[in-house]
Amino acid sequence: MGDGSVKHRFGSGAWIGAAIAALLLLSVGFLGWQYAVQGTDSSLTAGLELGTEFTLVDHTGAPITQAAFEGRPTLLYFGFTRCPEVCPTTLYEMSGWFEALGEEGRDLQAFFITVDPERDTPEIMKGYAEAFSDRVTGITGDPDEIARVIAAWHVYATKVPTGDGDYTMDHTASVFLIDRDGVFKGTIAYGESAEAATAKLRRLAGTAGLCSGGSLRGGPVLDQAAVLERIARIEDHPVAVLET
Ligand code: NI
Repeated sequence: MGDGSVKHRFGSGAWIGAAIAALLLLSVGFLGWQYAVQGTDSSLTAGLELGTEFTLVDHTGAPITQAAFEGRPTLLYFGFTRCPEVCPTTLYEMSGWFEALGEEGRDLQAFFITVDPERDTPEIMKGYAEAFSDRVTGITGDPDEIARVIAAWHVYATKVPTGDGDYTMDHTASVFLIDRDGVFKGTIAYGESAEAATAKLRRLAGTAGLCSGGSLRGGPVLDQAAVLERIARIEDHPVAVLET
């Protein structure tokens, strides 16, 4: 069928309806984007009961449970490896925080839980996480189990069709901070300055009173081009953009 014939089958009412629906979708999409970029619900306060027991797999394919978030100060980030910008930027900045903290941050560990478990296999998660840092462990697994964990952390994550039969994910962009006892202490928002982020991480690690081991001057030590090149090497994986 030619594309002209499609138009003739709709009256103008249908077009107005479609236009209103499109506008509604756009505004919902914008709100979702705003929410994802601005981070978690601001009602999340330290000490809140977040998280749930779970059994998933880390990026080596080994089983991992909620117990992994205890014993060491922990950064927890929800995202997906096909994220065009927010996730690669966050993981890039995270690796910069680790570099800046040096010895003060040696106890910190970080987990990257995928909100797109259907595409993010352990293998892809491994290649992706390691493109940024050897301090970040990817977590994936059963989509229902992931959905439970997402809900338990009050994380926003939703599939957004891209029109070409593919999809992207809108999601909460904050990094959750968990202390050694597994208690939620707060978040680092997307775009927060490196100075603010590392101050929070020093408090989390209990090294806030110590002299700084590293300097933020000069920015992250990590080579951006090298990170992007490592991501591009992941088989059938789209390239990423770093917003820095
Ligand atoms: Ni993302």
